[in-house]
Amino acid sequence: MEKPTKRILSGVQPSGDLHLGNYLGAIKNFVSLQKEYECFFCVVDLHAITVWQDPKVLANKTREVTAAFIASGIDPKKNNIFVQSQIPQHAQLAWLFNCIARMGWLNRMTQFKDKAGKNSENVSVGLFSYPTLMAADILIYLATHVPVGEDQKQHLELTRDIAQKFNNDFETDLFPIPEPLILGDAKRVMSLRDGSKKMSKSDPSDYSRIMLTDSAENIIQKIKKAKTDPYPLPDNINDLKLRPEALNLITIFSALESISIDKVLQNYGAKEFSSFKKDLADLAVSKLEPITSEMNKLMNDTPFIDDVLQSGKNNAIAVAEPVLRKTKEIIGFLS
Ligand code: AMP
Ligand code: TRP
Repeated sequence: MEKPTKRILSGVQPSGDLHLGNYLGAIKNFVSLQKEYECFFCVVDLHAITVWQDPKVLANKTREVTAAFIASGIDPKKNNIFVQSQIPQHAQLAWLFNCIARMGWLNRMTQFKDKAGKNSENVSVGLFSYPTLMAADILIYLATHVPVGEDQKQHLELTRDIAQKFNNDFETDLFPIPEPLILGDAKRVMSLRDGSKKMSKSDPSDYSRIMLTDSAENIIQKIKKAKTDPYPLPDNINDLKLRPEALNLITIFSALESISIDKVLQNYGAKEFSSFKKDLADLAVSKLEPITSEMNKLMNDTPFIDDVLQSGKNNAIAVAEPVLRKTKEIIGFLS
């Protein structure tokens, strides 16, 4: 079997509205990586249903993530964009990995602990084994690199452990040990309401996140209302690090404008938040508005989106099927 050396897989859940954290932490990086890598971008609906999803909106959300990929600049002709539940090999490999991963490894996953909270007896079994499915998403394509936000680092380490243990147990080199690509300054975009919490699809407050579907007016309002402290902006990085809300807004500015944090501090250090926020709002609108309007256009062309997903599906299965067959043969299953 041909072993790729520069193949990317990444996934985004269709579980809510995409936000600035998804864009800056993941999708924007996908766009720049497509030049150099063979890419598989997956809308991970099997992951989404680890928590309740309304069947009436799930299909639409799946198309919306696809539209966001394309509107952000991912070329659907050059890259494979597809839906996880349409590629049965993911779930099949995930089962095999459930028998490789150890309980102790999964018990250490902080995302599970955060999502389950005090309710861990009552969450789905799928939420617990979520990371073995993620490992399957990556390894079914023998992907070598995985661009993600910082919150996924631990899941990537688990993926590496699973690949290593499978290879050791069965004395094979089938699976690569994939590298995380956690790129840019905005590795972890924080809530606009609380600089100590990650910006997330599941935060109950709409004002905590800027969504890719927000109008210019909404974006301006959300940035205006974003939590700050009462002091002028700091003029150096050490002071900035002590002020979570300022750090978050300055990081967002630097990532949107693709300039360094130092440069933003040179321009805005010692100034009041109000003038900075105005410029940040203008910048966010100018970068996000073209994406939002392209997304809206694409969402009105369902046949086009479905065509993209159909061709992504065909390409994905052509790669995934031989890898699953080989894995089953190594384990000793009858063919
Ligand atoms: P999800 O919304 O959980 O499917 O995440 C999709 C991608 O966005 C993953 O690569 C995440 O690491 C990334 N991501 C999600 N939230 C954030 C955030 N607040 N900051 C940076 N990256 C994020
Ligand atoms: N767990 C990721 C998240 O919530 C989404 C995801 C699923 C993913 N499968 C993946 C990311 C494979 C990268 C590679 O953000």
